[in-house]
Amino acid sequence: MKIETTNTPAADIDASAIAIFIWKDEPLTGSALDIDTATEGALCCLIKSGEVSAESLAVSKMLAPVGVTAKVVLVVGLGAKADQAPGLAGRAVGTAAKSLAATARDTVGFFLDSLDVTEAVAATIVGVVGQGLYQCREQLTPFKKACFSTDDTAAVERGKILGDAQNLVRKLVNMPASDLYPDSFATEAVNVGAASGFEVEVWDEQRLEQERCGAFLAVGRASAHPPRLVIMKYMGGQSDEKPLGLVGKGVTFDSGGLSIKTSEGMMAMKCDMAGAATVLGTMQGIAKLKLPINVIGFAGMAENMIGGNSFRLGDVLTSRNGKTIEVHNTDAEGRLVLADTLDVAVDHGVGRIIDLATLTGACLVALGTDIAGLMTNNDQLAADVKAAAAACGEYVWELPMHDYFSDQIKSSVADIKNLGDSRWGGSITAGKFLEEFVRETPWVHLDIAGPSFSDKPKSWIDGGASGCMVRTLVEYAE
Ligand code: BES
Ligand code: MN
Ligand code: ZN
Repeated sequence: MKIETTNTPAADIDASAIAIFIWKDEPLTGSALDIDTATEGALCCLIKSGEVSAESLAVSKMLAPVGVTAKVVLVVGLGAKADQAPGLAGRAVGTAAKSLAATARDTVGFFLDSLDVTEAVAATIVGVVGQGLYQCREQLTPFKKACFSTDDTAAVERGKILGDAQNLVRKLVNMPASDLYPDSFATEAVNVGAASGFEVEVWDEQRLEQERCGAFLAVGRASAHPPRLVIMKYMGGQSDEKPLGLVGKGVTFDSGGLSIKTSEGMMAMKCDMAGAATVLGTMQGIAKLKLPINVIGFAGMAENMIGGNSFRLGDVLTSRNGKTIEVHNTDAEGRLVLADTLDVAVDHGVGRIIDLATLTGACLVALGTDIAGLMTNNDQLAADVKAAAAACGEYVWELPMHDYFSDQIKSSVADIKNLGDSRWGGSITAGKFLEEFVRETPWVHLDIAGPSFSDKPKSWIDGGASGCMVRTLVEYAE
């Protein structure tokens, strides 16, 4: 799909369809007014009679309106100005793109002037490229050309980079686990690195053995696809600046291991590498934007399977930092992979760590399907990540990290165990487990079990992988 900017008025643009955006109970302005004038007041009439709704993300079509060159005018409601939430522009334009892509079209014009100027034009491009048009399940046809009514070409370029980064994550997470396994993810990372400008190093199982990654290796042991640690380096900053560390859980399929999941619980478990994919997508975004910072991404890739060689309940694993871990449940595998991956990150001298993991079902119970759980050992870093998320309209919510949760992962035969004493507070005991492996490094853990993968589509995005947190991480990095 070609992306262009345009300054042709909405009524005159030579396009198969255009999208305009209207606020509830506000006079029409800009492109909406232009369409209303060209149609001799038809738009206003339709709004008054209730045929065209200005409710948030409501979609109405004016077909073959006299006086307008485009044969379809899609009107997307923005709701009341006072209720406006961050991210609205992206969702509104994504909704328009998804709706219009149900039919094959050559050129589509997006008229952005009613959207709040405080929200970057970029967000709207992300809405089209990264959310509206990428399809997993729905039948959509990307336009040949999308035109945006703006002269801010830098914002358009930024939006395209962010949209592509988000779509890379969605593509990888949506891939079946038979096609996307640790080594094929590593190959993808090498290719992405070469194309967008960062270095990629892959540790295979022998190297992981040499590095004493005993917890990580245990998880991947029963799989026909051996584990990989993918290390991605982008050094765009000063040579003396400590890199930001991004760490992702990359369990390419989580059967639960011997603590096997139910069929229902296993169904979506190809998504259990969403953290790793998010790290890769973010690296691509940061490198393509040529941000003046140093970042190292670490993707811990393993497949949690079952076989004669499985790791077992009661096993005592020695992690890379020397701490021993008693296995109480092989389905609490993500924290085992991350334990060693975090330790490798710390040894790379990173100044801060943000990890992303589809870590616990408990986080879905606590926060629902659209909010990531945030846990931290550093209030400043947490505040910065929260601010970045708020700026792009992604949702994170902090969970407490009181010391007493650490008592719940004490083991009688090892330093710690991989399960809390009870189900309660399961996201927090998992977070407390991870904290054992970051030493003094300021660290934020994002449990994305909820928002990374959705059973149902939304008006602006198809179901399946969402690519959540890519924009937040790039925003933070910026
Ligand atoms: N990958 C799962 C968590 C998950 C659940 C992600 C649902 C996305 C959607 C994780 O490895 C897991 O199995 N966690 C267990 C932990 C428990 C054994 C302490 C869980 O949540 O049940
Ligand atoms: Mn699991
Ligand atoms: Zn898992």
